[in-house]
Amino acid sequence: MAGEEQRARHVAIIMDGNGRWAKRKGLPRAMGHRRGVEAVRELVRNVEPLGLECLTLYAFSSENWKRPEEEVDDLMNLMRKFIKSDLPEFVANNVKLKIIGDWQSLAPDIVAMLEDALDQTKDGKHTLAVALNYGSQQEIARAAAKAAAIGEVNEKTIAAHLDTVDLPPLDLLIRTSGEVRLSNFLLWQCAYAEMAFVDTLWPDFTIEHLKAAMNDFAERERRFGGR
Ligand code: IPE
Ligand code: IPE
Ligand code: MG
Repeated sequence: MAGEEQRARHVAIIMDGNGRWAKRKGLPRAMGHRRGVEAVRELVRNVEPLGLECLTLYAFSSENWKRPEEEVDDLMNLMRKFIKSDLPEFVANNVKLKIIGDWQSLAPDIVAMLEDALDQTKDGKHTLAVALNYGSQQEIARAAAKAAAIGEVNEKTIAAHLDTVDLPPLDLLIRTSGEVRLSNFLLWQCAYAEMAFVDTLWPDFTIEHLKAAMNDFAERERRFGGR
């Protein structure tokens, strides 16, 4: 639709495929997660020219606790290292960190690191929202309970209590690794989001893949139920 191109304000990514990336290379799973963190770092470094208001990344789901303890510990340690190493860069690059999900029930030292990171980045301009211990059904249930407590349950009062309340509407959801499911991510927010499922495994995902998905989004015709 020439002349009617739209630009995405908010893109969310289900960063999937670290394990398969490692397996294909004959490496331990932990190496896949490590390379996954590097892919996040590179993406965040290069995302500014794309003009997004918000990039949301699914990093750890409420259901990921089901994985072996060793893998969960590894992911938590990677999180600790990442916050420590990359926070100064976030501050320098005007990144405003936002965490969605039940992050306050993570380990106390991680909660403290995240609180500090949120504080240090609060004046940032481009939002990087990270979903940690996030489950969309749980988020909706929490929001519905809060709406019930104020005595008015409808789509507006529920939306007003979601973790994403201060983020722009979701335009585009990308999932890597070829899986075509939402895995309890942003179910409410996806109501009218465009979807992109790409085969690339997360550690191989680059800014060029994101650009391509956003260019494809720009051409799509969104109707929101109208005509
Ligand atoms: C995504 O990669 C990272 C997390 C879920 C934390 P996976 O670990 O799910 O990789 P696959 O899906 O097994 O390849
Ligand atoms: C979704 O990926 C969660 C994250 C990417 C953090 P999973 O690998 O956990 O999803 P399923 O289990 O394949 O649905
Ligand atoms: Mg997976």
